Amino acid sequence: MNKLSIELSENNVGCYVKTDLKTINDVEIQEIKKLLNKYAVLFFKEQNLSPEEYMRFASQFGQPAKYPMLKPHRDYKDIYVIERKKSDKGLSFGEGAHLDSVYMNNPPRFTFLQAVDVPEEGQGNTLFYNQFLAYEALPNEIKTKIENLKGIFSSKGKIAKTRTLREAEHGTSNTKEIKSEHKLVQTIDGRKAIYSSPGHIVGIANYTSDQNELIEFLSSHQTKKEFSFSFSWKKGDLALWSSASLHAATAFNGDRKMFRITVQ
Ligand SMILES: [Fe+2]
Repeated sequence: MNKLSIELSENNVGCYVKTDLKTINDVEIQEIKKLLNKYAVLFFKEQNLSPEEYMRFASQFGQPAKYPMLKPHRDYKDIYVIERKKSDKGLSFGEGAHLDSVYMNNPPRFTFLQAVDVPEEGQGNTLFYNQFLAYEALPNEIKTKIENLKGIFSSKGKIAKTRTLREAEHGTSNTKEIKSEHKLVQTIDGRKAIYSSPGHIVGIANYTSDQNELIEFLSSHQTKKEFSFSFSWKKGDLALWSSASLHAATAFNGDRKMFRITVQ
């Protein structure tokens, strides 16, 4: 098998994969899927895929998901545009650790993000938090406690405020609340990961003890520095992550344009 060359990121949160996605073959796709299951987030530097190449790559991981709260690409309706202008005020879209669309009954399994236009290096980074590592580091007593609990996730959770600007542009403000429950622990390829989105969790189903205490504990544990990595974007870079990685946009001032695809 043609082994792809990889390099782990700081804190082993994810890994860089050295390949050319424009000419990738089926064997390499299978290998990337394995790497994704193992490392939760993968970085591909300076790929500069065309929208068509990008769609073709993403489609091999599942069915593209709809996200009505962002503007779609003019020609490729499953690519969503996350754009911020220098003159924009307020929070960046997606600031605060979260999982994408976790309030849906069937949330996307993978998210792809491609840098089309980015401010200078080190501005507009994306933070990633590896939830395999976060789970492993939990005290045994918490592992046992959360094993069969379900989190309640809402589209109006605290991260919703970062959408205000984008929704106003797109005329999708005042959308009705969507809620869903999911187990707080997921298993991927035999390894457990915490499955909770600090930006969306609003409760824990059938949990009679102090809900806020457990939510606060989990959310702050999940986002500890030792499970995190701040990825600095260059034009043409592509990141791909699973629900075993939380992510968060960071504050910045400047013009930035990203293309996002989520798949189920
Ligand atoms: Fe996100």
